[in-house]
Amino acid sequence: MDHFQYRNGELFAENVAISDIAAQVGTPFYCYSTATLTHHISVLTKAFEKAQITPRPLICFSVKANSNIAVIATLAQSGAGADIVSGGELERALRAGIPAERIVFSGVGKTQPEMVRALRAGILRFNIESVAEVEQLSAVAAELKITASIAFRVNPDIDAGTHEKISTGKAENKFGIAWEDAESAYDRASQLPYIQCDGIDIHIGSQITQLDPFARAFAKLSDLLARLRKNGHNITSLDLGGGLGVPYERDNQPPPNPDSYAQIIADQLGTSGCQIILEPGRVIAANAGILIGRLIREKRGQVKNFMVLDAAMTELMRPTLYGAYHDIRPVIETEGEPLLWDIVGPVCESGDFLGKDRHLPPLASDSLVAIFTAGAYGAVLGSTYNTRPLAPEVLVKGDQFEIIRHRPEIDDLLRLERLPNWLES
Ligand code: LLP
Repeated sequence: MDHFQYRNGELFAENVAISDIAAQVGTPFYCYSTATLTHHISVLTKAFEKAQITPRPLICFSVKANSNIAVIATLAQSGAGADIVSGGELERALRAGIPAERIVFSGVGKTQPEMVRALRAGILRFNIESVAEVEQLSAVAAELKITASIAFRVNPDIDAGTHEKISTGKAENKFGIAWEDAESAYDRASQLPYIQCDGIDIHIGSQITQLDPFARAFAKLSDLLARLRKNGHNITSLDLGGGLGVPYERDNQPPPNPDSYAQIIADQLGTSGCQIILEPGRVIAANAGILIGRLIREKRGQVKNFMVLDAAMTELMRPTLYGAYHDIRPVIETEGEPLLWDIVGPVCESGDFLGKDRHLPPLASDSLVAIFTAGAYGAVLGSTYNTRPLAPEVLVKGDQFEIIRHRPEIDDLLRLERLPNWLES
């Protein structure tokens, strides 16, 4: 459910007409809906309440999906914590008002300065990806005399049935420690100073649209929990990662239901007594954002017709990176015999497309076009390729909207560069 709806043939974000925002902000831009973001947190929260999981699971929004501080602050107000993977994301989460004790630090390559900063900030826990990493964290923590609570990210070797680039829980992926090595890793970590090794973490992938891979992973986790407890480890926290998929085709295939997801967790792990942590990203942010571009011009070819927008792969990498599908519709609904179009941007790459073979009526130049479900892994993957300034982000709340990231000037981009001595005249 989202709050982007057509009213009398015109697209609105909550109570704001998209064309009003475009008139003030220019195109391309991302538009996020506060009501949709908070709705998603409450749907998940209610699902866990219904499944009667105690203690209450902690929802740590995976900041990588959408890291604008206004988005994070909106979710913080709804009680969310944050899942971070870098020092930069830590600063964002803190600045957005997420309490340190609701921040979990994941990621395969934490550096020593990042460990120092996170320990000093007093974050909740670290998800650790190797024995070498926990040894380094122990050394850093001992120097600071701050104990780090950790979970090992254990790789359950389960095929999440998703795109290979976003599948993380198979043995050949770089993430986590092998299931067979888990017991010895816990034995080693529990001997290390300033390390409290009291959690297990898994994350099997992203855009998972079937619940079965989750069920199998949680069942394996439950087995491992029993074995570790038998070996004397006091495990009190289970981080189940993120990964719940969303419907990219708005009129098609319903998403896995959060209630059934919560029920699977309750069935497999509900009696563990552990604090459950979740790291959802996409399911919270994807449908809460759209990308708006303007038609520069149509280009009709021998084989294909193209709509060339001012939005491109630089604003939404997902189609070219993962072959991802995003719904594309005109902001003002238009009559006319639909034709088949490739919706492309102006970037000089054949991979620069937002949608292929879409049925849309011909549109007048300058028409606004909406690309849906762009709130997760949209702006965060943006680039300045072809010296295109990053597109601004706008947040809507009811009948208000504000720019939450400005469009840089070309000068802002060039300011970071300089000529070396030998080229200055
Ligand atoms: N936790 C960990 C450790 C992760 O690696 C990820 C995502 C998440 C949580 C959040 O997963 P989500 O709930 O959003 O599925 N750029 C790709 C997605 C990359 C996902 C990376 N990890 C895309 O646009 O599909």
